[in-house]
Amino acid sequence: MAEVGQTAVHPPIHSFVHHRSRLTDGQQHAWDRWWGSRGRDVDDLLSGAEPYDPPAWFGRTAPLVLEIGSGMGESTAALATAAPEVDHIAVEVFEPGLAQLLMRLAEGGLTNVALLRGDAVALLRQCVPPASLAGIRVFFPDPWPKRKHRKRRLVQPDFVALAASRLVPGGTLHLATDWDDYADQMREVCDAEPLLDNTAADLPGGWTPRPDWRPVSKFEQRARLEGRAVHDLLYRRVGTGPPSDHRV
Ligand SMILES: C[S@@+](CC[C@H](N)C(=O)[O-])C[C@H]1O[C@@H](n2cnc3c(N)ncnc32)[C@H](O)[C@@H]1O
Repeated sequence: MAEVGQTAVHPPIHSFVHHRSRLTDGQQHAWDRWWGSRGRDVDDLLSGAEPYDPPAWFGRTAPLVLEIGSGMGESTAALATAAPEVDHIAVEVFEPGLAQLLMRLAEGGLTNVALLRGDAVALLRQCVPPASLAGIRVFFPDPWPKRKHRKRRLVQPDFVALAASRLVPGGTLHLATDWDDYADQMREVCDAEPLLDNTAADLPGGWTPRPDWRPVSKFEQRARLEGRAVHDLLYRRVGTGPPSDHRV
């Protein structure tokens, strides 16, 4: 979990490992062509070199959904296509994934996605105002299955409190994972967060049925091949909600 719960004397523990990876020719082309207009570095927002200003990025004010760890962008592009009235911010550290998403946006003619390269937790904490997001999505976060690495898992109490605080009342936190024990951890941590209500509390296990709009990413594909069940969790921030068209 990035920085959460750390003091200044300890280096932050991140939920990701940043490997420099080569882009394919197509990804490099997309990067050269579109990153300058569609992408931003989280570090520039953190340092104040560039403002966090979604209305300026999108040229409008619309409900805003932030996806943490957009991977290769399959879900981002599909969801942005399905909800043109919603603006989407995809945060990822993995450049080939961001480049692939740029290609998808160009293919689909999508203008409602902004890309941010860097740590989504620092972004949430330092740049995203409280009660400003209609939704936060975390699909298949790195499971960190080894016990000694568990502290790197993103979904922990401090992160969930931070995420909940950034949602508008009525806004949603949507999580999905194919690791049973991580799913249990997510549910336990979110159930304990006073700002969140499980929208599927009445369903068996409190799990939300898999939404059919979510495309099967390569991580979900692998989980299926390896026989792991996928669990979705959908929590809503408590309080008086915004108008229904601000819900996602
Ligand atoms: C297992 S992949 C899943 C990708 C995608 N959501 C999917 O379903 O295919 C998790 C991704 O989260 C990214 N990630 C992890 N922690 C992050 C953070 N704090 N900020 C931004 N991206 C992060 C990793 O780089 C990785 O690409």
